[in-house]
Amino acid sequence: MSALPNLILVGPMGAGKSTIGRLLAAELARDFVDSDHEIQSRCGADIPWIFDVEGEAGFRDREAHMIRELAGREEMVIATGGGAVLREENRRVLRDSGTVIYLYTTVSQQLRRTAKDRNRPLLQRDDRRQVLERMFGERDPLYRATSDIVVRTDRRGPRAVVGDILRRVQS
Ligand code: S3P
Repeated sequence: MSALPNLILVGPMGAGKSTIGRLLAAELARDFVDSDHEIQSRCGADIPWIFDVEGEAGFRDREAHMIRELAGREEMVIATGGGAVLREENRRVLRDSGTVIYLYTTVSQQLRRTAKDRNRPLLQRDDRRQVLERMFGERDPLYRATSDIVVRTDRRGPRAVVGDILRRVQS
């Protein structure tokens, strides 16, 4: 029915990639896939375990492999991990695979949404605000360079964000 390319969500931890991705896929009657979820089920271990045992570099290798695989599918909604844009190869593969949507949010909103999180190894420390601010400085330009569309997720609920995305990809 639809001739739309893959819709790929990029953005930082706590931007709402999984929630919005699931809703967007339901609206478009497409399959939804979450890169972190696929990495964990393929590996049979959760992300903290992968970071513990293989280090961040090991996780990034798995992530790059998964992104190549998912980007090769068609008519999907794909959520990526917050660090997926760090590697140039990933940025190229994602851009070539479809329409890339940057879910922008603020550090304050990230802090609220990830306050009780135990599944993100990079946030298990006391100086979370500084960590998130440093990441924002490094990654915001990469999200922008990789994406076709930028959508704010900090000022309204997921359904309104999905409505905005649909209007913009279908116009
Ligand atoms: C990471 C974000 C996480 C996950 C891993 C590393 C990052 O995904 O891939 O903990 O570097 O920002 P979410 O953005 O889905 O939380």
